[in-house]
Amino acid sequence: MAITLSTLQNMHSKGEKIAVLTCYDATFAQVLETAGVEMLLVGDSLGMVLQGHSSTLPVSLDDIAYHTACVARGAKQAFIVADMPFGTSQVSPEKTFEHAARLMAAGAHMVKLEGGAVMVDTISFLTQRGIPVFAHIGLTPQSVNQLGGYRVQGKDDKAAQRLLNDAHEVEQAGAGMLLLEAIPALLGAEITANSGIPTIGIGAGAGCSGQVLVLHDMLDIYPGKKARFVKNYLQGANSISDAITRYVAEVKSGAFPAKEHSF
Ligand code: KIV
Repeated sequence: MAITLSTLQNMHSKGEKIAVLTCYDATFAQVLETAGVEMLLVGDSLGMVLQGHSSTLPVSLDDIAYHTACVARGAKQAFIVADMPFGTSQVSPEKTFEHAARLMAAGAHMVKLEGGAVMVDTISFLTQRGIPVFAHIGLTPQSVNQLGGYRVQGKDDKAAQRLLNDAHEVEQAGAGMLLLEAIPALLGAEITANSGIPTIGIGAGAGCSGQVLVLHDMLDIYPGKKARFVKNYLQGANSISDAITRYVAEVKSGAFPAKEHSF
């Protein structure tokens, strides 16, 4: 049966963990959903793991639309989220709608955009016009130059309070899900406890409603530096499908992320 936003919201309400991975092509879409991954994120991480760039900034809307269409051809039931690349959501709500509509037409069921309270007008504009939004807060890689590097966010009280406020504001504006990247585990759990929408964590601790990793990181095939929150699932597995199945099982049981993958 097709997985919808309501399916994921029901899982969050029941405390059933959601397994998410990035995905960029039809073959992996099939492998991932067969192994039980509920949601596929066509992330702008493809700029690094597929295109060889050193950041996500050069990724274009055409790139994400192309890979979303590939994933949509391979996936029969998974929920597909397309990332809005740098420069496509930091414009007027009207222009952002045009960009997001292209990704929905390519096969996405939801779009992801980076930013908290500052994005509320855009989030309400999109959601009132039929485009569900996954709001990404914490470490937002498109702002790497502003943040001064890929650093853990929300470490002091003021920064943590700002993120709690961001989470509240984007939910009020209509966001259907929240991505929490690289924040302390206690803060991830607190945001989730106060959230009426599912939270998906990457380096945000085990208290989130679900977890996401970049596919090439968890298969340990990306040569770049590994973040603390990445676990190599190919180690000890006898195939890629086996590795993905283990990831899903560990997300569902709460075994992943362990303390050593959290901040
Ligand atoms: O682009 C991406 O893959 C992401 C992950 C960090 C979740 O946003």
